[in-house]
Amino acid sequence: MPEVAMTFRLRTLSQTPLARAHEHRLLRGGEGRRNAIPWSRFARKQYPAAALALASQALVDLAAGEYEALVGFSQVSSALALVGAPFDIVAAAARVPADELRHAEYALRLAAILTQRDVGEIPIRVAKDKLERLSARHWTFEAVDGMMAAVPAISETLSAGLIVARRDQSSDPLVHAVLSSILADEVHHARLGWYYLMWRSPRWTPAERQRVADRVGAIVAGIEESFWHGREAPRGCKQAARALGVLDSAAQRAAVRAIMEQEIVPGLDGLGLGASHAWRARRRGR
Ligand SMILES: [Fe+2]
Ligand SMILES: [Fe+2]
Repeated sequence: MPEVAMTFRLRTLSQTPLARAHEHRLLRGGEGRRNAIPWSRFARKQYPAAALALASQALVDLAAGEYEALVGFSQVSSALALVGAPFDIVAAAARVPADELRHAEYALRLAAILTQRDVGEIPIRVAKDKLERLSARHWTFEAVDGMMAAVPAISETLSAGLIVARRDQSSDPLVHAVLSSILADEVHHARLGWYYLMWRSPRWTPAERQRVADRVGAIVAGIEESFWHGREAPRGCKQAARALGVLDSAAQRAAVRAIMEQEIVPGLDGLGLGASHAWRARRRGR
């Protein structure tokens, strides 16, 4: 079946008192105290228009991924509750969706600032069909194991690593602050996955462990290929694009390889899921 039916969604607010409270919380950086993001501090004149447009598109795509993560993690927390996972794990999962929505809003807000648009004018593309299929699933522990390995453990560790790479090469104070704020949450999202697997691992039968290992192996084998292409800056904009946190293909490949080899593959091996074999036999991009 063809994978279409993407939907476009714009950020809107309700114009009720909830909207004011929401904006207020957003500017404070979510629940609890954090470093405030210097939203009004952006020196647009330092950057060529093409670099700003490229960075803005990268942020809009990031916002779509974060929005999808909100739906995905809502499923994660309800699936964990439905199979009867320990309450601390369910509670940690239940906190994630609000973080992901905040990340989507931060990424959109920054995209809007870069290109002098209104946040509410920027459409984002969301894979609605895929997400709806996820919400219609019947959850068993085995299905939850696979999802926890794929989503919080592997994919959040990878996105945290990519955010680190973007942040570390960026010299712009606002971009740096937004990416640091997002990163502070992603680290917790990734830990949720690893702690879940740590709790489950001693409970697996050899056959169950093998099925999780097969699932994980398939993901690991395809990761490098799916992240093979970054965003190449147009002529004369390379420096500026880097400063705005845009990863070109070389930087993205190096970041993916480092995260896989330093964190994800050893973590999976340590759980007895034998990921190094899949990594050695991985598909290469073209
Ligand atoms: Fe996120
Ligand atoms: Fe996340």
